[in-house]
Amino acid sequence: MNPLIAPSILSADFANLKQDILMLNNSEADWIHVDVMDGVFVPNISFGFPVMAAVKNYALKPLDVHLMIVDPDRYLEDFKNAGANGITVHYEACTHLDRTIHKIKELECRAGVALNPHTPVGLLENVIEELDMVLIMSVNPGFGGQKFIENTYEKVRKLRAMANERNPDLLIEIDGGVSSHNSLALLKAGANVLVAGNAIFGAEDPIHAIAEMKRINPD
Ligand code: DX5
Ligand code: ZN
Repeated sequence: MNPLIAPSILSADFANLKQDILMLNNSEADWIHVDVMDGVFVPNISFGFPVMAAVKNYALKPLDVHLMIVDPDRYLEDFKNAGANGITVHYEACTHLDRTIHKIKELECRAGVALNPHTPVGLLENVIEELDMVLIMSVNPGFGGQKFIENTYEKVRKLRAMANERNPDLLIEIDGGVSSHNSLALLKAGANVLVAGNAIFGAEDPIHAIAEMKRINPD
């Protein structure tokens, strides 16, 4: 199966965001990845509801919202109202993860949990059946353009093996340093959603870069 491609607008030109969203509308991108950072969970602040709502005004693709914020429960409804189609929270930021997952589902959003590079996939053992997606961070969250962490492949393989037994439809999304150098190996390991910021917005021809990623077939 070809992967789902989710360009991260963290690497877009914020002064020309509309233009970049229109470009994504015309591309083979499946989702638009929206990175929300609070300056507490991660050492960076990106953007919040007004920017997201502005993106939603023009986006023809679903918004895949990655919340790098503490205590995300407080804001789930606001993100839904700002146009989220999928909401991914961090394992490390949730005290009552099972409750948070159910809240996301009640809002009729795709429910995802993200794992930092140091967080083992085995910690999802008791919630994996509830999840639509797991996001494996392949860099420490906070910034675009960082170097891919190599132990990601092993984590993807382990998670895919868990999913095969308990939740075969689970989407596995990889986020951070994804490029043409590692995409095929990630898909072969069992991933099926690729987030890319720099590899797309830093390319001379982003539409072509998206099409190339979309064409990768691990079978
Ligand atoms: C990092 C964000 C990523 C980031 C990816 O904290 O979650 O989505 O924008 O950017 P690249 O692909 O440039 O590593
Ligand atoms: Zn992200």
